[in-house]
Amino acid sequence: MKPIESIMRTAPVIPVLVIEDAAHAVPIARALVAGGLRVLEVTLRTPAALDAIRAMKGVEGAIVGAGTVNNPEDLKAAIDAGSEFIVSAGLTEKLGGAALASGIPYLPGVANAADIMTGLDLGLTHFKFFPAATSGGLPALKALAGPFYQCKFCPTGGVTLASAPEWLGFDPVLCVGGTWIVGKGTPDQAAIEAAAREAAALAA
Ligand code: 3PG
Repeated sequence: MKPIESIMRTAPVIPVLVIEDAAHAVPIARALVAGGLRVLEVTLRTPAALDAIRAMKGVEGAIVGAGTVNNPEDLKAAIDAGSEFIVSAGLTEKLGGAALASGIPYLPGVANAADIMTGLDLGLTHFKFFPAATSGGLPALKALAGPFYQCKFCPTGGVTLASAPEWLGFDPVLCVGGTWIVGKGTPDQAAIEAAAREAAALAA
């Protein structure tokens, strides 16, 4: 099994995290891991993101990656901070090539057949389907999974606790991603753990 596939199969949901304050990183990671979500995607959208990755790596059981990796510079910063995998919203040959050369497990975003073919050209078969809900939803992914039968997906973008089971019921979907598990502001650890437990109980 490819390393990215074992990461995708760790839990049915990858929480997509926007960390505003690095001091929130450890309490959030502890609550998520306690609730059964071990794979954590910290988006590089805030100045605190890289410090958050470094801090979360100290939480036992957490598998910490970087999301919103837009270019090779972000990739390098994410790897230097200790990211164990990386996620991008889309796929370019430049970023894809750099990610593959680095050897880090990589989950690039795709929204259509051309994106997937760019990935296949690079030797990639595991993708984030993004933005999932507005790119045609499950019917679009089902159509894409026909010609691209060898590919596996993590739909993200507009996925909710309510819609996740339908996505997860489709065989090529190994997991889904979403921001719904962790609210904004000072982390409420009990609420995060409860939301994580609910998400972790979804059948993959
Ligand atoms: C992402 O970057 O994956 C999205 O921002 C997650 O989308 P969501 O907020 O709809 O879950």
